[in-house]
Amino acid sequence: SSCYFRHDNHQMEPCELSANTVIAHPRALTDKMTLIRDAGPSKFQVIADFDATLTRYRVNGLRGRQTSHGLLQQGDAYYDAKRQALYDHYHPLEISPVIPIDEKTKLMEEWWGKTHELLIEGGLTYDAIKKSVANSSIAFREGVSELFEFLEKKEIPVLIFSAGLADVIEEVLRQNLDRTFKNVKIVSNRMVFNDDGQLVSFKGKLIHVLNKNEHALDMAAPLHDRLGVDIGEEDEENVNMKERRNVLLMGDHLGDLRMSDGLDYETRISIGFLNDNIEKSLESYRESFDLVYLNDAPMWGALELVSRLFSTEA
Ligand code: TMP
Repeated sequence: SSCYFRHDNHQMEPCELSANTVIAHPRALTDKMTLIRDAGPSKFQVIADFDATLTRYRVNGLRGRQTSHGLLQQGDAYYDAKRQALYDHYHPLEISPVIPIDEKTKLMEEWWGKTHELLIEGGLTYDAIKKSVANSSIAFREGVSELFEFLEKKEIPVLIFSAGLADVIEEVLRQNLDRTFKNVKIVSNRMVFNDDGQLVSFKGKLIHVLNKNEHALDMAAPLHDRLGVDIGEEDEENVNMKERRNVLLMGDHLGDLRMSDGLDYETRISIGFLNDNIEKSLESYRESFDLVYLNDAPMWGALELVSRLFSTEA
C-alpha cells in the first residue's frame, strides 16, 4: 500500500498523498494522532457506518441498490415490489433538504415500520437472506478484512452502526470475509425467527437513518437490554466502550459524524468516503472529516492510519 505518513523525529508528517486522499488540516490530524497514540489501544475504538462505507459504492462501475435493504429478495415478487414502491416514495423524502427534522423523523419511522411489516407479512426466511446475499454484488472495500484483523490483534473493538438489517449485514460479513472477527459488533435492526425459520418480529427499538446517528452509542451501552438492542456484549464491556474515549469514525455522509454523539470522546479522527457529487460536496466534506477518500477508495488508508497509531506498541 502507498505511503500516507512519515515518522520523522518522533513527529508524524504527511508525505506523498494519494490522488484520492484529501486532508484539509494535516497538522491538526498529526496532533490528534499523537494524542491517540500516547493514550494507547486500550483507549481506542472504531465506529463505522456499513453501506457505502465498509462496502463499495459502485461494483463493476454500477451503482446498484447494494445495501442490506436493497439486496434483499423475499422470494415473493409481490412483497419485493411493495418494498421497492416504499423506497421510491420515501427515499426522496429522506434526502430532501427542506423537510423539517421532526417531520422527517416521523416519515422515516413510517417507512421503516412499513418495510419491517412487509418483511414479516411475507414470511421472510433466513434461507432467503443467505440466497439474496449470495446473488448480490455487494462487496467490501479492499482492505476491510486486513483492517479488522489488525484491530482484533490490538483488541480494539469495531462497532458497525446501520439503519439497515443486522441479520443481512452479518450474512454479508460471513459470505464476503474469509473469517469472523470477535472484535466486530453490529448495531442494527435485528430479526426474530420462529422455529420454522420465518421472521416474526424485530428486537427492540427501531433504528432508522435519523435516530441511528443521534443515539448510536447509547444503543451499545448498558441500557441495550432495556432497549432490546442485542449486540451480544456483556454490560461490563459496554461500560468499557464508553471508557474508550478515542475514536476513529468512518462514514459516507456528513450525518454519520453524529455516530459518536453518545460518546464523550476525547480525540476523534474522522474518515469520510465521498462517493458521489464530488464537486458539490468536497468543500463541506474536507472541512468536516479529517480525511476524505474519493472515488470509492479502498480501506488501505484507514489501515495505514491505525498501524501508524499502534504498530510500534509493545
Ligand atoms: P444506513 O445503512 O446508512 O444506516 O441506512 C440505511 C439505508 O437504507 C437508508 O439510506 C434508507 C435505506 N432503506 C432502503 O433502501 N429500503 C428500506 O426499505 C428502508 C426502510 C431503508
